[in-house]
Amino acid sequence: MENAARQSHAPLLSALRIAASRTVWRLHTPVHQGFPDPEFAALMGTATSLDLTELEETDDLRDPKGAIAEAETLAAEHFGAERTWFLVAGASVGNMAALLAISAFSAAGRSASPPRVIVDRNAHVSVVAGLVLAELEPIWVSTPWLPRWCITGPPAPEAFAAALSAHPEAVAVIITAPTYYGTAADIAALRNICGERLLIVDEAHGSHLPRALPAGADIVIHSAHKGLLGPTQGGFLHLRSGQRFDSAYLTQSLRLLQTTSPNYWLLAGLDAARRAAAKLQLTSPTLPSSALATISGPALEIYANDDPTRLLVYFPDGFAAYEALAKLSVQAEAALPTGVLFFLGRYLADTAALASLADVMMVVRQSQATQPARSIPSPPPMPEAVLLPRAATLSRAEPCAIELAVDRICAEVVCPYPPGIPLLVPGERIGSRAIEHLGAVIPELRTVRVIMD
Ligand SMILES: Cc1ncc(COP(=O)(O)O)c(C=O)c1O
Repeated sequence: MENAARQSHAPLLSALRIAASRTVWRLHTPVHQGFPDPEFAALMGTATSLDLTELEETDDLRDPKGAIAEAETLAAEHFGAERTWFLVAGASVGNMAALLAISAFSAAGRSASPPRVIVDRNAHVSVVAGLVLAELEPIWVSTPWLPRWCITGPPAPEAFAAALSAHPEAVAVIITAPTYYGTAADIAALRNICGERLLIVDEAHGSHLPRALPAGADIVIHSAHKGLLGPTQGGFLHLRSGQRFDSAYLTQSLRLLQTTSPNYWLLAGLDAARRAAAKLQLTSPTLPSSALATISGPALEIYANDDPTRLLVYFPDGFAAYEALAKLSVQAEAALPTGVLFFLGRYLADTAALASLADVMMVVRQSQATQPARSIPSPPPMPEAVLLPRAATLSRAEPCAIELAVDRICAEVVCPYPPGIPLLVPGERIGSRAIEHLGAVIPELRTVRVIMD
């Protein structure tokens, strides 16, 4: 069958519909049997009857041979992977599984010290969870600080090259690309720098503009709800080719980490999101960027990025602007010290809606016309790593008032949400500049867990 025709199918979605329409006595899980709490049922509509289990039609996520296998194959074809796995605990579980798999793969047959990996400091908290679970030693690559926006950009390929020449024994390189703010990275250059080492790309924010697999990344992690039309908690894990890596390690890691009772509503939502993405790619291969022209007036400053669906607008006080916008019925994605981030989604194609949005932004921007910009001390240089993240996480720890934490060793991930990018990682020594930076970025932070002396 021709590719476009194949991609127009959603086999798991169809299988779920057929399974739900069968009239049988349901004497299996879920024991609500389609009739949960009435208020919940009224809210969820037909979704309750679609909450099914592994049946003949619905297949088994742990060992797919039917509709799930077909749906995963279609996703692999769409994204350009050799194999794709559906994730039911978000890109988070994809990051953890990827790290567990590379640890097992590189440790196989030898009992050396924990494998080292080169990791971009924009890493999401789930990457840190992966380092802990997989007992990996991170060599962090620092990220450039953009003071106007109080955010970080992706590290340049040269920064990875320097880390690799200092640590040639590293088994893999891990990068977050695009960033939460829509800035892409030069994955092709990174591929060359990595040589035969594994290149893992957390492309959670780029499933709608996939760049990593075509540029040669080995393992790529996608969130389904950050760019595609997929459900929250859904994601994809892709392996580009089994030449450099044995896919069995990824299957095994996912079996260890994912639930044994995946929700079929999520799984079918992934199948449908892939189909919608394939259709969009066929009808409109590039996303329209005209949104920026509609929204950026002389008084609205927009962060220049590589993804028109991510709109970061400058406000001298981003936290106050976010609240003011919410009062005007505009619920943004995130408040930053000097900006507000919007995920435009379907509004990208709606010029009238964008013009109204720009009007609301202007009202808020003008209310801050004479306000000085929030000033954030730049992040400190990379903290000293005293223990591996795993050792620190498993150490006895206690809460400590943040102002008393200087020189103590951090026992937890300290990060603002969103974006969930850690400012401190377990095992790092807490410096006074880190405390100053934390106070400005997470003003509500009072205590931090530190390792007991
Ligand atoms: C860069 C990055 N990676 C991974 C994740 C985790 O994605 P999910 O929420 O789908 O588990 C996030 C979530 O915010 C993220 O920003």
